[in-house]
Amino acid sequence: MLLLGSVGYAIGGEKLTENAASTAEDALTGNVEAGEERYKKSCINCHGAAGKGVASYPKISGQEISYTKSKLETYRDGIKIGPNSSLMIMMAKPLTDEEIADLAAYLKEATI
Ligand code: HEC
Repeated sequence: MLLLGSVGYAIGGEKLTENAASTAEDALTGNVEAGEERYKKSCINCHGAAGKGVASYPKISGQEISYTKSKLETYRDGIKIGPNSSLMIMMAKPLTDEEIADLAAYLKEATI
């Protein structure tokens, strides 16, 4: 009884931790200022000031955070989306989850 109780507790505890971890990841709240810094370092040359897009490089500002995150994660996984994905795959490879969250937070708000 005591054993069962503690096993149940352990499993329950494990699940809780797991849920907390995945929730924390989903809810990883981006830092807009850090995102802006990162954006200016690696993205502005193609996507222009505040992600407004330049010529054939798409506008990337004003999108929902989940949209931008999932695009960047897809590129980071090496998966093509459009005809010019190889450029983005190269750019997204080094991004951490935190940087993706920061960039997505910045791009949602970015205006010129
Ligand atoms: C060398 C030029 C270049 C750089 C630098 C670059 N991108 Fe891109 N980006 C592109 C191109 C080209 C596409 C369209 C790719 C395709 O065809 O799938 C794109 C697509 C995207 C998309 C998807 C847009 C959509 O709605 O489908 C996002 C989001 C994005 N870029 C974010 C970024 C971020 C964030 C950075 C900096 C870490 C960055 N890009 C750096 C060229 C670039």
